[in-house]
Amino acid sequence: MSDHRLRAYDSILDLLPDADNPTPIVRLQRVTGFEHARVYAKLEWYNPFGAVKDRVAANLVREAEERGDHLQNLVEPTSGNTGIGLAMVSNARQYGFSAVLSKAVPLEKRTSLRLFGSDLLELDDDLCPLPGQPEGAMAKAEELGRRPGWTELNQYANPANPGAHYRTTGPEIWNQTGGAITHFVASLGTCGTITGIGRYLKEQNAEVTVIGVHPAQGHDIPGVRSRQALALADFFAPDEYDAIVEIGDEDAYGLCRRLHLEESLIAGPSSGLALAGALRTVPDEPGVVAVVVFPDNAWKYLSSFRRHLPELFPPEPDAAPAPPANPFAVHLENAFALAKHGPDVIDVAEAARLLDAGVTLVDVRNPDEVARVHIPSSLKLPLGELSAGSLAGLPEDRTTPIVTICAAGTRSLYALLLLKAQGYADVKSVDGGMGAWAGAGLPTG
Ligand SMILES: Cc1ncc(COP(=O)(O)O)c(C=O)c1O
Repeated sequence: MSDHRLRAYDSILDLLPDADNPTPIVRLQRVTGFEHARVYAKLEWYNPFGAVKDRVAANLVREAEERGDHLQNLVEPTSGNTGIGLAMVSNARQYGFSAVLSKAVPLEKRTSLRLFGSDLLELDDDLCPLPGQPEGAMAKAEELGRRPGWTELNQYANPANPGAHYRTTGPEIWNQTGGAITHFVASLGTCGTITGIGRYLKEQNAEVTVIGVHPAQGHDIPGVRSRQALALADFFAPDEYDAIVEIGDEDAYGLCRRLHLEESLIAGPSSGLALAGALRTVPDEPGVVAVVVFPDNAWKYLSSFRRHLPELFPPEPDAAPAPPANPFAVHLENAFALAKHGPDVIDVAEAARLLDAGVTLVDVRNPDEVARVHIPSSLKLPLGELSAGSLAGLPEDRTTPIVTICAAGTRSLYALLLLKAQGYADVKSVDGGMGAWAGAGLPTG
């Protein structure tokens, strides 16, 4: 039995915060310069997977499960933190997870996602995904989510995003301030945080002032959006906020550093942004109690800090000259694009028919993915081993027909090219991979 009092838990998911197990609020001592107003930071990096978005990830999955959705593989557009939360909830629930995100998302987040077992599709997209861009993360995730066996929960339009904050963060703040809160401040990304908490607090006391803080256009603060980009966010509800403030990168990073030095808080850039907005708008008057959400800590943003506080980092080694384009990589990419639309990509029904006829089916996923779900008669040869030259278990006879399969149909296509390069004449790749296979109700073990 999980017990918050003892902090003893049956499952990491039981640590997710709610009114019985709130993330801390900590009063700021020096950095505000206020004499009368009390300003509290709500430290969301105390969530089990490290950021405010764990609440959203867990609520997206919880509501889908309660609706009876048959979840197998999740795919989500993300600026990183929802992805990390979903990766970990998926691991706990034994779902597959793919994150679709911009290459501008900090390397630390993209690496964390890989470390936590996600498949990544990295695009030339905005730092925070925007709707209406056909090649952007949102459109791509929607497309991938339509494959059989895959689900896109879509934090940008799913009411479970603000709902997470209405259910948990709002009541926590109300209880933690004994109902004395007068001002609530949050940074603006999807706007799930401000809209969910703001609604809850105003229902308790319509006098609570709700303040949103956003960066300038062209900003470099991961997780948040400029005013122009906010106009496209489903949960941006300016009529429900009392003030909206713009803060520049310099002020946000500068205040973040002061939070480290003056308050011993390991705050990340969007915490500095939110506090800078609070200091512009919250009056220093007796009776004022302000709560500012601090979404994440500093660790995943060291590459961002390097750009804004370069004096703290060792000098970059002299930039190496750009390497010449690798002709092999270019040819491989062209071959991949050709193969993708060629006759060697088959659907799961054809793959099942070939398997019945005795074809060699090669699963090129990693062992941990195979352990979750696999086709019992398949031969297991991870793409990494195949590309390092291993043909372990494959028939010697290069005329033997072979079918390759992975999670979604990308790695199996590379495997097809590698096998053809090794002389196998008859190789096919399964479109949609194990997701489509399981989604079609074909046998798995
Ligand atoms: C670090 C960080 N700060 C702020 C936000 C903004 O929160 P919201 O999307 O609820 O507006 C996010 C959202 O991903 C975030 O990751």
